[in-house]
Amino acid sequence: MLCLFVSVLLIIGVQRPTSVHGVPARGGDKKVVPKFTSHGQTFRAVIGDTLVLPCEVQDLGAFVILWRRGSAVLTADKIMVTRDERYRLVDGFNLEIGNVMPQDAGDYVCQIGDGDTRDQIHTVEILVPPSVRTSPANGQLTTRKGGTVTFECKASGNPVPTILWSRKDEPLPSGEKASEGFQITLEKVDRHQAGVYQCTASNGVGEPVTVDMQLDVLYAPEVEVERSWVHSGEGYEAQLVCIVHGEPQPSTVWYQDSFTLEPTERRTMDSRGNKHTLTIRNVQSRDFGNYSCVAENSLGKSRKYMELSGRPSPAQFRSPPYSTSKNSYNLTWLVESYPPLEEVRLLYRKLMLNDSYQQPGKWHDVVLQPSNGETFSHLMSYTIRNLESASVFEAIVQAKNRYGWNEVSDLYQFYTRGPGEHVYDFPADPNMKDMELIAPSSSSSHTFHLATTSFVLALFSSTALHLT
Ligand SMILES: *[C@@H]1O[C@H](CO)[C@@H](O)[C@H](O)[C@H]1NC(C)=O
Ligand SMILES: *[C@@H]1O[C@H](CO)[C@@H](O)[C@H](O)[C@H]1NC(C)=O
Ligand SMILES: *[C@@H]1O[C@H](CO)[C@@H](O)[C@H](O)[C@H]1NC(C)=O
Repeated sequence: MLCLFVSVLLIIGVQRPTSVHGVPARGGDKKVVPKFTSHGQTFRAVIGDTLVLPCEVQDLGAFVILWRRGSAVLTADKIMVTRDERYRLVDGFNLEIGNVMPQDAGDYVCQIGDGDTRDQIHTVEILVPPSVRTSPANGQLTTRKGGTVTFECKASGNPVPTILWSRKDEPLPSGEKASEGFQITLEKVDRHQAGVYQCTASNGVGEPVTVDMQLDVLYAPEVEVERSWVHSGEGYEAQLVCIVHGEPQPSTVWYQDSFTLEPTERRTMDSRGNKHTLTIRNVQSRDFGNYSCVAENSLGKSRKYMELSGRPSPAQFRSPPYSTSKNSYNLTWLVESYPPLEEVRLLYRKLMLNDSYQQPGKWHDVVLQPSNGETFSHLMSYTIRNLESASVFEAIVQAKNRYGWNEVSDLYQFYTRGPGEHVYDFPADPNMKDMELIAPSSSSSHTFHLATTSFVLALFSSTALHLT
């Protein structure tokens, strides 16, 4: 009924029944024309907001104001045509829309039924905070090592949200902190890529939405040993450590040679996270030997060996590689041994120095009287004399106790000063640390030695020059 009435009003360019068309203006017979004092605007509202669309008219006279949305009439004069109770007229003919919804977006027309004045049009945009749909829907992916996985986040909202991928507490496998796009693909995954990935959708409306996605990577066990050579002595305690990774969680078993080890009074095995420790108390000579830990899960098996030994540890060199002298060098090293050392040998030789002559010299063999102090750590030193100046040497130290000779130490390089260089003891020189890093501790490559040596010597000379 009401609609019909309004349609009629619309068609005939309505007048109030009580008024006359064209109210006379102050003096004169000019007709007063109604005029909008508000302007057509664009309104942005977040869902749930209350919105007021102005429609202010001067000199309305007898005309009627209509609010339309498309062809649907919402109000006619003071009559609510729409049944939607969220609409109200406030302060005259301003249209209030309560609890706005996405479907309220669109153009709203305020019309003066004079058939003359142009309509006033407001555009309403509804801002919708982001929401996210993920694939897989439960946010959980499991794959085998080496596989490729894709997580997806589809976001809706207005404006269209942007999606950023990140990883909880660490950078993405690509090294980036975050990457944009509705999906993220991880290739050749391994255990380092497992964990929680997050997609965050934001569009400036409300709070960004973050969804956690979990990647589980299944892989055969990977075993590392903390030390492949462990030193101990009879009556002392020894600890052997294996680090085991694997998914599903592997079982780990300890072996001595080919025999499975069970806990005993002297022997315990414990695991903390990935770390598996075999502790042997009151070590006996039969405990020395070859140990291994074997980790196994449904995807495979892995084993790593280590040796528990009573022999002295390989020598660790402690003297700085640069002599303070032109023709001697005080070599200092540390050897660990529980039983007393029986014999210590030092071998050294000159290395090549210039481009035309690259052959190392003959080995010099020095047999030393071991110093046996109170501790298991044997700090020893020997001053090598009659060395050529401005030269490079390498040294090896071997030590023997009642269990035998130790593993041969790494080759250690040291340098004598050149002629004209001032003798200067500069342990506090900050360059010293850099130099020590430059010096290789083992003789792996001939050419590498040459290059490093000249470089180090150059540094050395320039430091010395600088001091004069
Ligand atoms: C232990 O024994 C295995 C098998 O005989 C061998 O391959 C490995 O090198 C040994 N490891 C050590 C640390 O002695
Ligand atoms: C060699 O160096 C060690 C350790 O710094 C020191 O104890 C020893 O006295 C030095 N020997 C000589 C002959 O300077
Ligand atoms: C290179 O070193 C060798 C051995 O020390 C020496 O005989 C030779 O003269 C040196 N050559 C040059 C170009 O310094």
